[in-house]
Amino acid sequence: MMSGPARAVLVTGGSSGLGLEVARRLAGRGYVVGLMARDNDRLNSAIGALGGNESRLVACRGDAAEPADCARAVSRVIEVAGGLDALVCCAGTSLRAPVAQTSPAVAEMVMRANFWTVFHSIQAALPALKARGGALLAVSSLAGHRGVPGYGVYGAAKRALVGLCESLRLEVAGDGVHVGVFSPGFFDSPLRSKVLDGSGAIIEPPPPIPFRLWPLDLCADIAVYCLEKRVRRRYLPRFVRPLFAFDEATGGVVGDRFLRSRFRGL
Ligand SMILES: NC(=O)c1ccc[n+]([C@@H]2O[C@H](COP(=O)([O-])OP(=O)(O)OC[C@H]3O[C@@H](n4cnc5c(N)ncnc54)[C@H](OP(=O)(O)O)[C@@H]3O)[C@@H](O)[C@H]2O)c1
Repeated sequence: MMSGPARAVLVTGGSSGLGLEVARRLAGRGYVVGLMARDNDRLNSAIGALGGNESRLVACRGDAAEPADCARAVSRVIEVAGGLDALVCCAGTSLRAPVAQTSPAVAEMVMRANFWTVFHSIQAALPALKARGGALLAVSSLAGHRGVPGYGVYGAAKRALVGLCESLRLEVAGDGVHVGVFSPGFFDSPLRSKVLDGSGAIIEPPPPIPFRLWPLDLCADIAVYCLEKRVRRRYLPRFVRPLFAFDEATGGVVGDRFLRSRFRGL
């Protein structure tokens, strides 16, 4: 049985994929969970899929790239739970297109979905997180750490959020707020069938994946572990850490050759 006030979390991108599975796990641990996403129908079915408990699940419809929507989402969770202990930034979209073939409007949209959602949700949540010494976890990607053909803009957005969070961690450490970044490789989620090309159209059939596709459940377990254990950085798979070090030590020569062969045609 829980005592004291309920812990509370806001999950951006909570209506699908990783965000939904993280929400499911945290709801199961007794958190009041705010789910933030733009599409109302998907949001409501996500709430239904989690059991529909109105006192513990808060539908926060809104665009996390909009400061006012983020402020409203944070207020809604605080209204229900009395405070906010955690923020998980899962909102995002995927783009697979060479830089030269990416329209500027699509590039900006991808930056909005993958970077500005993180910036604005963090800014909105930070005062409440400071009040409770809370934790936040932002979801990046391996493409945010290493250039990959076809992932220039997506990788830029994911790298930008790493830079944001790495600095923020130092800035808020004195307030007892933890900042973590989870950077997975490809994992199995609805996003895989919504990958955009440079004109913003969905690529059909979905592009082949040159590496292992990780199970969604594994990703969600890792994300929750990182949040609760206050892990600073986590990659999936873990063995990329030494590969990144090797890549750095060899000036990227071997890595470039390997990645170009894996992502042929891009
Ligand atoms: N799947 C992969 O292989 C993979 C690999 C590495 C990293 N990632 C990252 O992991 C995160 C989760 O991805 P996923 O695969 O679980 O994707 P997903 O199933 O497509 O879910 C994305 C979620 O983000 C929401 N969203 C998108 N833009 C938003 C916005 N502006 N404001 C609020 N919500 C927004 C979507 O709902 P609405 O559209 O209704 O707003 C949806 O709930 C993303 O950041 C993604 O880039 C994914």
